[in-house]
Amino acid sequence: MLFSRIWVLVLTSPLFFNVVLSFPRPIPLNDGDAPKELLGDLLTVGVRTTTGQTVQNILLGLESGQSAVVVDQTSACAAQSVCCVWYSIATDLTKLFLARDGTCNDNARAAIRLGFHDAGAWSKSNKAAGLDFGGADGSILIAAFGEQNRAENNGLQDIIIKMQKVATKWKVGLADLVQYAANHAVVTCPLGPRVRTFVGRKDATQPAPPGLLPSVHALSSDLIALFQDKSIDPHTLTALVGAHSCSKQFNQDTAHPGSAQDSTPGVWDVTFYNETIATKPNKKLFIFDSDKVLASDARMSTEWRAFISDQAHWNEDYSAAYVRLSMLGVNNINDLTECTGTLPAARQKFP
Ligand code: HEM
Ligand SMILES: *[C@@H]1O[C@H](CO)[C@@H](O)[C@H](O)[C@H]1NC(C)=O
Repeated sequence: MLFSRIWVLVLTSPLFFNVVLSFPRPIPLNDGDAPKELLGDLLTVGVRTTTGQTVQNILLGLESGQSAVVVDQTSACAAQSVCCVWYSIATDLTKLFLARDGTCNDNARAAIRLGFHDAGAWSKSNKAAGLDFGGADGSILIAAFGEQNRAENNGLQDIIIKMQKVATKWKVGLADLVQYAANHAVVTCPLGPRVRTFVGRKDATQPAPPGLLPSVHALSSDLIALFQDKSIDPHTLTALVGAHSCSKQFNQDTAHPGSAQDSTPGVWDVTFYNETIATKPNKKLFIFDSDKVLASDARMSTEWRAFISDQAHWNEDYSAAYVRLSMLGVNNINDLTECTGTLPAARQKFP
């Protein structure tokens, strides 16, 4: 459940004395929620490869969902790694996502939301009904499928065109590019984690089923149920909606287009969690109704408050949560390749 930085161990000697030892404890990977669910081919055929094992470990909370390790481009490309092309893509995405002042820009926020809107259009109940498609399949980038015209994707049209161009230029899969760009955008924001990033997904052959993305006006119970049907429990959802730390709205309060959801939308910080529950909200911000109701839902409020003062905790939990999101509808997890090493280094400093 809640984790504390200090692990207090009380050793009691039956004869003479009590000794209290305390020492720093590493950030636990599992905060003690409900058992984590497996996904895709990990459920049907189990672990078949080292990547399959890695993703399974992350999904189960046994291994971290982030990694600071930057791999050298020259050696990766000399070894003809499938990751080689992603260094070039990373260079292009940095140009797209990084603002002059070192923060992340509107393209970056749109790319983070794009990753969610592609991957999030998948559910367990659809799968059980034989509709195991949608998810992280790049369908949102396929113009002929028309997802760019769905109401919930309003505001994403511009980034969709930009990502189509990057995919064409570098001849990579759409599904992979969407998820890669979302993770690249997060680490382009100062304080953002390097979320573990995998490539090798299959691209969509049909549009995602409709009605699977959340409404900003929904009740917390309905939002929680919607995400549970994607294997995303309330704790995981608490971490994911923190992406609104770097978001702006353009289609809710149309009188104030571009108003942000926290006071530092170019920085991947935890002020969002505090500002959402402030008793006197900052009038310059536009707090989403969905974030307000989720923050006060008993299944999420404890974790919500825990993140307010703990960037490391949020980054760790967001990373694991996003790896899960990026695997929804992916049924060849064992065949993926990890290319986290190609992402830019994380940055702790910002203006
Ligand atoms: C309860 C779940 C969620 C709801 C109801 C929700 C709703 C919204 C809404 C209404 C907007 C404003 C769109 C506009 O007016 O242009 C928005 C923006 C955004 N959302 Fe969410 N969201 C949810 C979860 C997430 C998740 C899980 C992520 C990512 C992991 C995410 C990332 C973003 C980002 C980055 C933006 C800013 C987009 C931009 O500035 O162009 N959201 N969201
Ligand atoms: C959270 O916001 C309140 C004002 O609403 C402020 O007094 C408090 O210091 C903030 N806490 C943190 C950890 O930023």
